[in-house]
Amino acid sequence: MTEHQTLIRQLFLPDGGPYALSSAMSARSGSGKTTLLTSLINAARTDSAFNETRFIYVSVKKEHLFKPMHKKEKIKPVSSVWDAVKSMRKNQITVFYPSDPAYYEEDVDSLIDSVFDLADSNPEASFSIVLDDANVLKGFDNRGNPSPQVKKLAIAGRSKRIRGLFITHRLGNLPRIMNGNLSALILMSIPSMDVEYSRKVFGVDFEPILPELHSFRWAVVDLLTEHVHTFNPISPK
Ligand SMILES: Nc1ncnc2c1ncn2[C@@H]1O[C@H](COP(=O)(O)OP(=O)(O)OP(=O)(O)O)[C@@H](O)[C@H]1O
Ligand SMILES: [Mg+2]
Repeated sequence: MTEHQTLIRQLFLPDGGPYALSSAMSARSGSGKTTLLTSLINAARTDSAFNETRFIYVSVKKEHLFKPMHKKEKIKPVSSVWDAVKSMRKNQITVFYPSDPAYYEEDVDSLIDSVFDLADSNPEASFSIVLDDANVLKGFDNRGNPSPQVKKLAIAGRSKRIRGLFITHRLGNLPRIMNGNLSALILMSIPSMDVEYSRKVFGVDFEPILPELHSFRWAVVDLLTEHVHTFNPISPK
């Protein structure tokens, strides 16, 4: 197994192991989060360990960068939970665009509930739910209280083979309840006030790597060992 493969499995494989908690990606607007995330998921999809893993990518901005991996694959965004479940039964990747800003939270909550139901009735399947621009959702701030479903995903997902990846602009957008329930952080260009925040909340010091995190460079923080690894930019396809 290559180092890259190990990293991708630690970040995304919902195998119930110690690394299979949810994770978070935080960085400034326009720093390359969606591009990086897409490339990491594409890499996961070429690894047979993910054959039974379903990826559900939720974009409140209604944009995605996924391209079909083979001729027959069609990536057609869906906007109802019903269609999302139908898609998950058939496709490895489902793109979900919540349709009405007034009901974003309800949509995401019922999507999470449906994934837990699917996991219960399909013991061989596992799920990776990516919430891009999660900072738009109510409850995504440090003092905020996310919905019971989001809490369930972060706290009870691992043993059900379900992982969340919460993508936000600031580390401070992550609800406090997530502290101690994440196995990794993926960082790109972050504001220096996040450094202080991270020292306080995660007990990890990014100060030394802050100067490196520019021009689409990125880092992964292993929250189990507190090791920080930095990476060169991916080449967007
Ligand atoms: N590794 C890279 N190399 C070159 N260009 C990149 C790279 N990653 C992203 N970009 C470019 O930077 C711009 C912003 O990227 P992207 O949309 O992925 O950022 P983002 O962090 O998701 O932004 P937002 O916070 O607005 O969602 C895009 O035009 C994208 O093509
Ligand atoms: Mg984005």
